[in-house]
Amino acid sequence: MTVTIVGSQLGDEGKGALVDLWGGDADVVARYQGGDNAGHTVVEDGDEYKLSLVPSGAVRDKVGVLGNGCVVNPNTLFDEIDELRERGLDPDVRVARRAHVIMPYHRVLDGIEEEAKSDSDLDAGTTGRGIGPTYEDKAGRRGIRVGDLLDAEVLRERLEYVVPQKRALAEDVFGVEAGEAFDVDAVFEEYKAIGERLQEESMTVNAGEFLGSHVDNGENVLFEGAQGTSIDIDHGIYPYVTSSNPTAGGAATGTGVGPTVVGRGEVVGIVKAYLSRVGTGPLPTELTGDDEDLADYIREKGGEFGTVTGRPRRIGWLDVPMLRHAARANGFTGLAVNHIDVLAGLDEVKVGHSYDLDGEELLTMPATTERWGECEPNLREFEPWPEVDWSAVAAEGYDAIPENAQAYLDYLSEEVGAPIYAVGVGPDRAQTIELENPFQQ
Ligand code: GDP
Ligand code: IMO
Ligand code: MG
Repeated sequence: MTVTIVGSQLGDEGKGALVDLWGGDADVVARYQGGDNAGHTVVEDGDEYKLSLVPSGAVRDKVGVLGNGCVVNPNTLFDEIDELRERGLDPDVRVARRAHVIMPYHRVLDGIEEEAKSDSDLDAGTTGRGIGPTYEDKAGRRGIRVGDLLDAEVLRERLEYVVPQKRALAEDVFGVEAGEAFDVDAVFEEYKAIGERLQEESMTVNAGEFLGSHVDNGENVLFEGAQGTSIDIDHGIYPYVTSSNPTAGGAATGTGVGPTVVGRGEVVGIVKAYLSRVGTGPLPTELTGDDEDLADYIREKGGEFGTVTGRPRRIGWLDVPMLRHAARANGFTGLAVNHIDVLAGLDEVKVGHSYDLDGEELLTMPATTERWGECEPNLREFEPWPEVDWSAVAAEGYDAIPENAQAYLDYLSEEVGAPIYAVGVGPDRAQTIELENPFQQ
């Protein structure tokens, strides 16, 4: 069967921790979208791993797949594999031949365009990894796929078409001097060699066939979503979004198994008990003004600094309309709620239960980001819960969670319409309390 892990908010909900928890029961762990913009944390007995491209099942020694929906920077992939090897892991990563390659000019253009957009506040605060420009070229049918790196003739042909266009874009449209990243010969030589390494190490696969055969053999496949529903290119707060589909439908289109395969399995929404946001754009429940001290406190306690960029994350109360939106867009069969421990010991715990927009109450997100920015949250207050020894709570299980925190979890489950499968009370694998294992549903 399959289990699909999806971020239900703005990314960084703690997906890595759950992929690691349930990855123990998986035979294969596959990413279906995004690239090295992701930063997924796994903590095993105090050892912390921050994974960008290598699927988080690597910590459990599981085969990892980067599906066709991913955009792959081979250099960062090789570096990450090397680093993990130095730490004693042996990541076995297969890359879809249909996945697109992040080329050097994509990274440069990412920075150039963000800079150009910043004058009109349209920059998304990207991770600068070249994600958007790579997906643009994929949709524009001028991208380079992993399979193209394996055939020097095809690679050369593709580069000769696309690179001069990119050079002209940088120089003539943005007025920036294009460097080596826009040189056909240099790029060709580097990426031909990368293709050879991928070939030598037998790292490329027909991902759909590979994953499909595992499913057909009755094995367990875990789909590891990156980013989150509200930064999905279709369902998120456009244009402050990433350029792929983190939502569960992406698990089918981004790997090559059918939606029926994904739909027969479990789709688990990962929820952070409050909001964190690393990019730009509106955020109705953001803690600002008088609440800034509280935001600082949560940021420090929750370690809310970007895994990829190190930027301090913006902090807000849980946005429940955002979760209702995510539940519909993904069809959650269960939820995992993380960071309950971070909210412990506060004087007050609030959630944005609904929005007020032009005098009307909304229970879910409006379709435009401008209208979302005009929403006033209707806050609901919960009795706070005390600071406790969370490791002891985790060892004892769900009933040991303070009652007020349980009331918060009950409310959430009820509003979102899905049962709670796990509760995170700390970053370590041992600090996630499992109520249900989705592979045993
Ligand atoms: P991801 O991108 O969704 O995998 O999440 P990140 O790894 O970017 O950010 C989540 C951060 O919170 C990481 O530092 C995790 O180790 C940590 N974390 C995950 N779950 C919990 C939790 O329940 N409590 C606390 N305090 N930290 C957690
Ligand atoms: P994980 O998988 C949080 C945000 C960026 C920016 C927008 C577009 O760790 O949850 P991009 O570089 O993708 O073009 O940036 O999306 N963003 C993330 N925010 N977590 C992530 O990944 C993110 N990946 C991208 O900050 O606002
Ligand atoms: Mg992250």
